[in-house]
Amino acid sequence: MHPLPLPPEYIRTLQPYVPGKPIEETQREYGLKKVVKLASNENPLGPSPKALAAARKSLGEQHRYPDAGAYALRQALCKSLSTPERKLTAGELLLGNGSNELIDLLIRTYTVPGDAIATSQAAFVAYRVCAQAHGTRIVESPLTPDLRFDLPALLELVRKDEGVKIVFIANPNNPTGTHNTESELREFLAGVSKVRGGTIITVLDYAYWEYVTDRGGANSIPDPMKLQAEFPNVVVLRTFSKIYGLAGFRIGYGVGSAELFSFCERIRMPFNLGAPALAAAEAALLDKTYVRQAIRENQQGMKFWKKELERLSIPYWPSQGNFLLVNARKGFGKSGVEVFQECLKVGVIFRPVANYGLHDALRISIGTMAENRFALKALEKVKGTRA
Ligand SMILES: Cc1ncc(COP(=O)(O)O)c(C=O)c1O
Repeated sequence: MHPLPLPPEYIRTLQPYVPGKPIEETQREYGLKKVVKLASNENPLGPSPKALAAARKSLGEQHRYPDAGAYALRQALCKSLSTPERKLTAGELLLGNGSNELIDLLIRTYTVPGDAIATSQAAFVAYRVCAQAHGTRIVESPLTPDLRFDLPALLELVRKDEGVKIVFIANPNNPTGTHNTESELREFLAGVSKVRGGTIITVLDYAYWEYVTDRGGANSIPDPMKLQAEFPNVVVLRTFSKIYGLAGFRIGYGVGSAELFSFCERIRMPFNLGAPALAAAEAALLDKTYVRQAIRENQQGMKFWKKELERLSIPYWPSQGNFLLVNARKGFGKSGVEVFQECLKVGVIFRPVANYGLHDALRISIGTMAENRFALKALEKVKGTRA
């Protein structure tokens, strides 16, 4: 046998990202025709027809490389994100192959192996995967008892660990669905701006912002663009994978300082976004009717699930996203994985979240109303209220 090269220790010990279980795999394994997947926080409506038409139109030109500068999408985003108070410029945007790529780019640009990122326990797992893949340490503050980021504890970690270069805050967080309020975030950002000359980057991951209904109040989720304007080392991450229904195309964007992004641009692969994806994103951004419909569908689904979960005495955590985290232990007397496995047998895929340390919880993505009704039957069966 020839000698086997070994990657560094941090690669050998890396726990890879576990995606939601695919529909086809579940059909094969359980011999089922109908399978409903409410496991990946996708938009159940399917892509906007306008986005699809734009992608199709670009297909004849696929012998050419895409526009590496993504001029048209950048212009469309600048127009859509600018306000009378703030005119956004193209350099203040960073485009990625999903916002996942932006998490990776920021970590590779601004940390060296041995440095650290700071986040919370049960934060979106990509922060951990990307950091470890680069040999960057991860320091985590504990969750509050109501499963929210403990921002004062996170600030303490940042103060104490000299190696922390980037903080990741998902608002709302996935998989918990819970959020931090404007005053909590402001206090945190003001605190961080006083640590190590204010050079630490805070990433506000707002993948679910368009779904957020709780806006404008004291305990609401703050507008990330306003915070970014006030705190220049804040980077806001957004995505076309959720409300815009384009998860398969892989497009995300960051809003932040042009100087800060200029270094990420040096290591970004020039053609990280394909032309059909760019065309689809631009069209989706302009399709306001589709976005409004997606918001309505989500609100209707959310209302349905909350009512039904309450009827079945299955507790859940408050969520501002397109998903709900339920307490499987209290609701069923079972672990999240056990409920997940039982539901698979009847063709419903939910998401266990044991990999987040949340062994007793199960995440439900909001589907179409037909999907929600079908999936509810699976939970009723596990609960024993349905034969
Ligand atoms: C909090 C959060 N951030 C980012 C992402 C990644 O999105 P993208 O598809 O843009 O890479 C997700 C996807 O589930 C998410 O939940």
